[in-house]
Amino acid sequence: MNTVEKDKTYVASTYNRFPVVLKEGSGSVVYDENGKKYIDLGTGIAVNTFGYSDKIWVEAVSKQAAALNHTSNLYYHGPCASLAEMLCEKTGFKKVFFSNSGAEANECAIKAARKYAEDKKGSDCYNIITLENSFHGRTITTLAATGQEKFHKLFTPLTEGFLYVKPGDREALANYISKGNVAAVMFELVQGEGGVMPLEKDFVDFIVKICRENDVLVVCDEVQTGNGRTGALYCYQNYGFMPDIISTAKGLAGGLPLGATLLGDKVKDVFSFGDHGSTFGANPVCCAGALSVLSRLDENVFEGVRKRENLIRDTLKDAKGISGVYGMGLMIGIEVACGGPKLAGALLEKGVLVLTAKNRLRLLPALNIPEDILLEALEIIKTTAAELCDTEAI
Ligand SMILES: Cc1ncc(COP(=O)(O)O)c(C=O)c1O
Repeated sequence: MNTVEKDKTYVASTYNRFPVVLKEGSGSVVYDENGKKYIDLGTGIAVNTFGYSDKIWVEAVSKQAAALNHTSNLYYHGPCASLAEMLCEKTGFKKVFFSNSGAEANECAIKAARKYAEDKKGSDCYNIITLENSFHGRTITTLAATGQEKFHKLFTPLTEGFLYVKPGDREALANYISKGNVAAVMFELVQGEGGVMPLEKDFVDFIVKICRENDVLVVCDEVQTGNGRTGALYCYQNYGFMPDIISTAKGLAGGLPLGATLLGDKVKDVFSFGDHGSTFGANPVCCAGALSVLSRLDENVFEGVRKRENLIRDTLKDAKGISGVYGMGLMIGIEVACGGPKLAGALLEKGVLVLTAKNRLRLLPALNIPEDILLEALEIIKTTAAELCDTEAI
């Protein structure tokens, strides 16, 4: 059997994969098993922060793998402590819990919020408000947190205690909070899976204000927006406030599984021994990868992200078949006449890998994608969107 046949036979059919077998890559370019070259604008869904097998990252990870590949959380190790220190020093958060994925980072955020509220306000105060059109993960609890019904079907009963509010609906938010049994409001600042939709700053300011007034925790899901993606280390910095908790994963370790939940002043000591844990969380190799990525995420890189964002917006502005470019930094959603999924399939054939979100095309390129490679891919997107737009019209 070839790879596709083997995969279809033995791997659970949860993914509708593109018909391509990727073999090796470098930076923003990847090759399939037949040697066909692709420009990658998806980075494994915002994971390969500096592209495929970035040399500095490979060296950091290989060195750690050769020295101490894994140990349990029963012992201390340098990469874990240093990474937590670096995350706290770069953000102002006070403590970090490490896990393996975005969903787990959110699970930890939810547990921390519930524990804080139970300690301070009693066991009835367990509700978490999330937003409609959000996405927070695939576990039963993070599915419950996800404000999209299509994800809830088939898996009920989900974890109880989640209330959903439309982005921008201040009245509904205030009503829920006034009932006094809300532990936290949890949201993505740019809804990724929901179509790359940044929240309005005024609405975010309102959430923060009403939460502060009622001792309700502000939790930002920075799984996709984090680690430089939106032109700041974390997206809340673009909005100018300090959350009580953030969760992050994806690009943090630059291609290895690592989740982190960052705890602010109010919640830094909410957990005691045994309240939470993870076998693989803070794995030394993953932490070494993250230390390498994080130590490079500076103002220079963020400026580069914003510059590339402008390049994308300028190049695609007024292009035929493209009616809008949305998002923040290198988290871009593109409204296309022919529909994102159809365009993504056509682009694959032309050697450009992209993602979709709802009916939009979604771009999450490496933060350091060379500008000439980005431009080459954008020209292909432009011509393909125009061609498909013509076909639609016929
Ligand atoms: C905002 C957000 N939260 C959580 C998740 C879940 O992350 P993971 O797939 O690593 O569990 C995702 C994944 O796409 C995400 O975009």
